[in-house]
Amino acid sequence: MSKDNSKISISVIKRLPRYYRFLGELKANGIERISSNSLAQMMNLTASQIRQDLNCFGGFGHQGYGYNVAVLHSKIGAILGVDSKLKTILIGAGHLGNAIARHLDFEKKGCVLEAIFDIDENLMGKNICSIPIYNVAYLQEYCEKNKPVVAVLCIPKEAAQSLADSLVSAGIRAFWNFSHYDLNTDYQENVVVENVHLGDSLLTLTYRANNEI
Ligand code: NAI
Repeated sequence: MSKDNSKISISVIKRLPRYYRFLGELKANGIERISSNSLAQMMNLTASQIRQDLNCFGGFGHQGYGYNVAVLHSKIGAILGVDSKLKTILIGAGHLGNAIARHLDFEKKGCVLEAIFDIDENLMGKNICSIPIYNVAYLQEYCEKNKPVVAVLCIPKEAAQSLADSLVSAGIRAFWNFSHYDLNTDYQENVVVENVHLGDSLLTLTYRANNEI
């Protein structure tokens, strides 16, 4: 990597997981190299957009050869931090929390889900895929001892902001937030938030279905 990643625009960063996914599929299918034109066609982008995106990190392509799939896949993985093993906790072991804990391959995305917390006494002592569920009252103490950095929030929106505030003081600096509430962490410079609203994506689809675009 020849350039400072902190200066890369967030819109380029947001496209990288998609490159990573497509290249992973090509690699799994035994494809060794690909031109920017073919990759662009597959991904419904332009070749110049791909070159521009990858140039932010120093290129990786070779004139007349294109891209080596395995090399590009591993370089983009390294930029994204797929081997980061960020200590992760999940709050809210309800329907959504269960689905996420069971079906998301955290380790392949640079995170290790180590503990789950809930307010419901009936869930204490249980686990989801061997990950223990603890009482949310134990959260601060757990964070002091284990120093997680990522929190996945699957709790009702009413509880989201105050819980996030206490998690920030306990050292959490990244939120994957599914509660239907856009967290405000402006007060803390080094805290990052990804608010995820599946409903927004569905509404976009509704618009596109109605307008045929
Ligand atoms: P659920 O009711 O099945 O689970 C919520 C869990 O959070 C329960 O186990 C409850 O005991 C726990 N909880 C409540 N307050 C808590 C607190 N202060 N600390 C720790 N745990 C607490 O609900 P479900 O279906 O799992 O949904 C969870 C949230 O995610 C809801 O607010 C829902 O609206 C939202 N949601 C968001 C989606 C998205 O795309 N962002 C999609 C689906 C649901």
